[in-house]
Amino acid sequence: MNFLLLGDIFPSAISFLEKKLPRVKKKNKIDFVIANGENSAPDAKGITKKEAEKLFKSGIDVLTSGNHIWDKRETLNYLKVEKRILRPANMSSTLPGAGCKIYKKGKKKICVMNLMANYYMPKCSNIFKTAQKLIKKMNLKKNVDFIIVDIHGEFAAEKMALGHFYDGKVTSVFGTHTHVPTSDSMILSKGTSYQTDLGMCGNFNSVIGLKKEIFLKKFLRVNDQKKNEPAKGSTTICGSIVKACEKTGLAISIKQLIVGSKIKNFNN
Ligand SMILES: [Fe+2]
Repeated sequence: MNFLLLGDIFPSAISFLEKKLPRVKKKNKIDFVIANGENSAPDAKGITKKEAEKLFKSGIDVLTSGNHIWDKRETLNYLKVEKRILRPANMSSTLPGAGCKIYKKGKKKICVMNLMANYYMPKCSNIFKTAQKLIKKMNLKKNVDFIIVDIHGEFAAEKMALGHFYDGKVTSVFGTHTHVPTSDSMILSKGTSYQTDLGMCGNFNSVIGLKKEIFLKKFLRVNDQKKNEPAKGSTTICGSIVKACEKTGLAISIKQLIVGSKIKNFNN
């Protein structure tokens, strides 16, 4: 079973994915696609039905999220009905939606978990305690065939520690949120694939996907009322392809995938 995992999607990447994702999937024999969609709204804050439907149509099976999930009010109602979008499992249980769900692909059951880190992120429950609770319910090869975990967070050490916590218990653990792809994709010692951050699907001639001029003014303390906005134009999509063993549910290989023009391309 081949999984394609894609980093945080910016609005400029939606049409790119609509055009190119089918070819990427065919070329790499992809069975299931998971992407973080929380930056896909036109201002890169949140996700609405309009963007999500385009992304599902382009070939994405499940969208994960993080700190921006509730930026658009309509998403509160949308997540009551759209089960293919996850919000972090360690957010308050009173909020709509779920952070851990089982999806079916053919005869296979794929569990996707979405968690938000604690360091330098908005407040939510302890990510390690939530991970312990979730993994008690989901058992590789007992009640699910594969388990994929998106850890949405800023701090590499926290994501890496969680990778080791999950090692041997899940198929793959990947990080999102920093928008910068890390080149540490690996198979951990007990067979789980890991990458600290998948990177983003957006324009890298920017500051983490946002217009560099506006961002610079902010850091240089130039008094400018302009709100930041996503950089348009040339798009690069970043992610990884994980090949998983149908017998064990663990990872066999992980290969970084970068398609676009601005940064070094792999597997293009
Ligand atoms: Fe984020």
